[in-house]
Amino acid sequence: MNVLVVGGAGYIGSHMCKCLSEAGHAVVVLDNLATGHRAAVQWGELVEASLGDVAAVGDTLRRHRIDVVMHFAASSLVGESMSDPYKYYANNVCATLALLQAMREAGVSQFVFSSTAAVFGEPQAELIDETHPCQPINPYGNSKLAVERMLDDAARAYGLRATALRYFNAAGACDSGLIGESHEPESHLIPRLLRRAAGEALDVQIFGTDYPTRDGTCVRDYVHVCDLADAHLLALEYSRAQPGFHTFNLGNGTGFTVLEVLAAAQSVVGRPLDIPRGPRRAGDPATLVASSRKARERLGWRPRRADIRRIVADAWAWHQKPAF
Ligand SMILES: NC(=O)c1ccc[n+]([C@@H]2O[C@H](COP(=O)([O-])OP(=O)(O)OC[C@H]3O[C@@H](n4cnc5c(N)ncnc54)[C@H](O)[C@@H]3O)[C@@H](O)[C@H]2O)c1
Repeated sequence: MNVLVVGGAGYIGSHMCKCLSEAGHAVVVLDNLATGHRAAVQWGELVEASLGDVAAVGDTLRRHRIDVVMHFAASSLVGESMSDPYKYYANNVCATLALLQAMREAGVSQFVFSSTAAVFGEPQAELIDETHPCQPINPYGNSKLAVERMLDDAARAYGLRATALRYFNAAGACDSGLIGESHEPESHLIPRLLRRAAGEALDVQIFGTDYPTRDGTCVRDYVHVCDLADAHLLALEYSRAQPGFHTFNLGNGTGFTVLEVLAAAQSVVGRPLDIPRGPRRAGDPATLVASSRKARERLGWRPRRADIRRIVADAWAWHQKPAF
């Protein structure tokens, strides 16, 4: 198939491009390089444009005879979304609507969307499955849920085949050394710990040690970025056979505490890391873990790199010698 990867110069999108290319698909990347890297585009041509640029998107869809669009592009910093919500509605909702309209004009009817655990808001269960209420608590989550609702409507009205994959925490890197996670600013725990270990002057703290969890620190669900890419491939096949709009939660099924992640990082790096303990951060729930049962049952997805040490080791290989 000819696949347009929107946001393919970013962290997860670039891993998707590699995975698609290895599976024999032809890849084209559309990215405005707002947070992505030109050097991450190694599997297919880069069209440097915004996803809201209807003319550029339409031209790309037709010129490359695109069959499927995978949409990773977004603004995705929760804190920034609280202080500048219009940016999130403009980039995540309005620009996505323009992309979907351009797809409709060009007759492209299959879409895979990067959604997030942030659509759920405060967890009301130990394991979050797809039936959990969606009540986002920040504009980032609101913007992603708005797109999910748009996709549901478009599936009914126009026959769009759409899948929203809700990632919990993406982590790790492919073992080629060619691509990895290089966000600026970096807000995720594993890369912050490892960049600090590699010598960067990053302020890293453990926020809260009095949560009702096994060691008092927050529990989060980390999925290897290559396992996420595998799930997208399976979702492509699934939605070819099953019309309509589908949602899948993607997680390891096992959460790890901040201290467990720190222990894995110390073991991988081979020395202790001196990380100070601080107070809780507002808005951090104690536990956020996905039930990926639906993805396992319907897509046949099995995360193959679920071990936290493996995830951290793959990330460490990248952070010692990041190519960009
Ligand atoms: N990283 C995670 O743990 C995580 C978790 C849940 C959901 N997600 C979602 O997954 C997706 C990918 O995340 P990531 O970590 O790879 O982010 P990223 O910032 O590394 O990649 C996003 C890419 O989209 C591009 N982009 C942004 N706005 C654009 C626009 N208007 N037009 C064209 N390109 C644009 C950026 O330049 C970048 O290359 C995002 O939608 C994010 O919300 C990520």
